[in-house]
Amino acid sequence: MAPLSDADVEAAHTPLMSPLVWDLAHIAAYEDLWLVHRFAGEPLLAPEHAAMYDAFETPRAVRGDLPLLDRRQALDYLAAVRQRTLATLAERGPGDGELHEMVFRHEQQHDETMLQSIELARLLPAPAVARAARPPAPGGHTGLEPVDVPGGPCTLGATSEGFAYDNERPRHEVVLAPFRIGRTPVTNASFLAFAEGGGYVRREWWSDEGWAWKEDYDITHPGGWAGGPDGWRQWRIDGWAPLDPDEPAVHVSWFEADAFARAHGARLPSEPEWEKAATWDHDTGEARRYPWGDEPPNGRANVDQTGLGPHPAGGYPDGASPCGALGTLGDVWEWTVSDFRCYPGFVAHPYREYSEVFFGSEYKVLRGGSWATRTGFATPTFRNWDLPQRRQIFSGVRLAWDR
Ligand SMILES: [Fe+2]
Repeated sequence: MAPLSDADVEAAHTPLMSPLVWDLAHIAAYEDLWLVHRFAGEPLLAPEHAAMYDAFETPRAVRGDLPLLDRRQALDYLAAVRQRTLATLAERGPGDGELHEMVFRHEQQHDETMLQSIELARLLPAPAVARAARPPAPGGHTGLEPVDVPGGPCTLGATSEGFAYDNERPRHEVVLAPFRIGRTPVTNASFLAFAEGGGYVRREWWSDEGWAWKEDYDITHPGGWAGGPDGWRQWRIDGWAPLDPDEPAVHVSWFEADAFARAHGARLPSEPEWEKAATWDHDTGEARRYPWGDEPPNGRANVDQTGLGPHPAGGYPDGASPCGALGTLGDVWEWTVSDFRCYPGFVAHPYREYSEVFFGSEYKVLRGGSWATRTGFATPTFRNWDLPQRRQIFSGVRLAWDR
């Protein structure tokens, strides 16, 4: 955020996202609440900010109308809270460490949210971060090519070891019919062919809700695309670029993903199917920690915000899952057909508002993380969720087929 002007950091650019300065002070308020107040038993540093920076009491759409701290004040608030956190840590230690890890990850999640805001609002200059080297485009990947996943049992969810969110637990077994899943996410070339081939005008490919949304907002292509005399361009976080045919399509709503799948005689994978394709080693009868094994991503996936956008589909052959699926982690979040619901035996932890209040038929689950997801979340068991009409997130499509 450093290169952005104060005005850009403080403005409400869209009701879909918070002003960036809200995220900053919210990170401070959350850390103060959990680590200094609740964990260490100290009074809040700024009780007068508590409601304004509480995500539930103050929904995104109204955050721009509040007397928010300005940028300088928000940064000072962050620094003051961090000092208190470190002081209580030095005094009492981290306990079992769980709350500290939760707060650390909360900040990392907001990192991704803030990058969404920056891209959506088309703020320049972009973050002064060097763009990581891109793997060579292997070409030939479309997202329409399937790989086989055998039927039978598999496990779903996080083990009881280490940190995971409540909605990822408990780990449990499911039995699936054999299916096929896309070797890679659907690419821009494939999505462009859909858009230019009547994808957004053929009623039969759309659900009723999806069609109504598309008509209301006059949607004719994924978010961030623009046509012109020199061909299609795409707004990336650091400006316009020609639409790269080999990259996974991004800023696609669940409705668009669903229509694209129907147009190709396919469907979206269910959550269990997605996780099985990403982790299940049929030979050992065990789920891998990551698609490729136990080691963290380290060059096997485009995560951690260094790519500043998706990389060409299939660009990380070392990141293949046991069934041969590529790019399950990183690049773009992948919509599943599944509603966000709890696993059998779910226990809310450490607070109901983390996930329980979102369970139901309203939200759809996305898996796999994006280029802007920090490594800790880019695990095959992490569940993200959003409304089916939303596409401000870095969301794409992977197809599935019955067998
Ligand atoms: Fe938050």
